[in-house]
Amino acid sequence: MSAQVPEGSVSEITARYTYGTWRFQKGWKPLHIVDAEGCHFTDSSGRRYLDFSSQLMCVTLGHKNPAVVAAIEEQAGKLAYIAPGFATDVRARLSLKLLEVLPAGLDKFFFTTSGTEANEAAIKIARMVTGRTKIISRYRSYHGSTMGSIAATGDPRRWPMEPAGKIPGVIFAPEVHCYKCPLLHHYPGCGIACVEYIGHMIEHESDVAAVLVEPVVGTNGVLIPPAEYMPRLRQICDATGVLLIADEVMSGWGRTGKWFAVDHWGVTPDILTTAKGITSAYVPLGLCATSRKIASFFDDHYFAHGHTYEAHPLTLAPAVAAISEIERLHLIDRAAETGAYMGARLRELVPKHPSIGDVRGLGLFWAVDLVKNRETKESFNSMADKVAGRTLLVDRIAAEMMNRGVFLQPWISHLVIAPPLIITREEVDTGIAALDAALVIADREADA
Ligand SMILES: Cc1ncc(COP(=O)(O)O)c(C=O)c1O
Repeated sequence: MSAQVPEGSVSEITARYTYGTWRFQKGWKPLHIVDAEGCHFTDSSGRRYLDFSSQLMCVTLGHKNPAVVAAIEEQAGKLAYIAPGFATDVRARLSLKLLEVLPAGLDKFFFTTSGTEANEAAIKIARMVTGRTKIISRYRSYHGSTMGSIAATGDPRRWPMEPAGKIPGVIFAPEVHCYKCPLLHHYPGCGIACVEYIGHMIEHESDVAAVLVEPVVGTNGVLIPPAEYMPRLRQICDATGVLLIADEVMSGWGRTGKWFAVDHWGVTPDILTTAKGITSAYVPLGLCATSRKIASFFDDHYFAHGHTYEAHPLTLAPAVAAISEIERLHLIDRAAETGAYMGARLRELVPKHPSIGDVRGLGLFWAVDLVKNRETKESFNSMADKVAGRTLLVDRIAAEMMNRGVFLQPWISHLVIAPPLIITREEVDTGIAALDAALVIADREADA
C-alpha cells in the first residue's frame, strides 16, 4: 500500500522527517517542487521559477532532457544493476566516450555516485601510488562532505568536524583570489606568489602526495586563476613528483565554455575528478579519471578501493546520453557565447549598484561579489556568520529573487550564477532584471 500524504503537507513532512543539509533544522520550510523543464522548475502552487544556478550548478542540460530520460528508462529495462566486477556494454560505451572529451592522457576510470566519493578515491589513489601522505588543498575550496573530502575542504563546512574528524596530513595553501588576495598582492606584478608558495610548502613539508585544486573554484566565489597559474602548478608538481588532482566536479562539462576548466590552460592533471554535469545530475554519478602512469602502477599493486554501486549501469547510461547531448546541441560553444553575453550584462550592473565589489566569470559560471564598502572590500557577512546560522544578506537577496521568480545560489557574501547551458539570451535578461531589482537590498546597507 502506498503511503498517503495529506494534502498540503509535503513540505512539513519533509522538514520533520528528513534532514535539511548544511543548515540549522529549525525554520526549514522547503518549497514543494512538482515539475521542472528546460531552464524552469514549478512549485505545487503552479508558480514557475527560472533556474539561474542549475540547482547546485549541476543541471547542465536543463531539466527533462528527453535523450537523457530515455537512456535511464532504456537502461532500467535492460540491466539496472550488476556488480562492478562484470563488464557491461554501457561501461565500455561510456569509457570510449570519456576518452573523446577528457584531457588527453586521462584514460583509466573509477566511477562513483558523487563528487565527494570521486575525491575520496583520488586521495586514496594518490596516497597508494606515491606512498606519501600529505594532501595540499586551498582555503577557499570545497571538495566534498565525507571524512577525507571534508578534511580537504578549506571552507567553513569543515569547521564542525575539527579537530577530531580531520584525516591526518591535509594542509592548506592560500587560494588564488586576485580580487581579495590572501597574500595582499596585486596581479599582475605579483609573480603569482600564491602558486610559488605551494612549491615552498612541498619543499618544506616533505611527504606530500598531491595538490588538490578546483581549477576554477566554484561555490567559494568562481575564482579564476591568472593564465600562468595552472601551467606553473603543473610544473611545480612535475618537478617535485607530486600528483596534481583537478577537482572539476562543478567546473566540468562545459560550465566554463570548455569541456573542462583545465582545457583553458592546456594542463592535464594526473587525476581529474568530476560529477554533477556528467549526467546533468539526473542520476548520481561521479568519476575519478587517472593517467595511464597511475593506471599502470595498479597492474602490480592492489587497487584497494571500491563500492557496491561502482560502475552502476543505471548511472552510466545517462552519462553517455548527456555527453552526446552536449555535443549535439553544441553546448560548449553556446556556454562560451551566452556566457560572454551574461558577463557583459552583469558588468552593466556595477555602476548602478554600490554593493557590487566584483563581477567575475568564465563561460556560464559567474559570481557577483557583494561588499559593504568598495574601497575596503569588506564583505557583508563572514564565514562565522554562516556557521552560526545567521541570516546572511545574500540569503535575503536570494529570497527576494525567488519572490521575483528567479532561483540562484548565495554563499557567504556572493551570488553564484550558473544556469543550464541551454539558457537563451532572453532568459538571461529575465534573471538579470530580477537581480538588478533585488540588489537594492544590498545597496541600502552598503556605504554610499
Ligand atoms: C568542487 C566540488 N567538489 C566536490 C563536490 C562534492 O560533490 P557531491 O556533492 O556530488 O558529493 C562539490 C559539490 O558541490 C564541488 O562543488
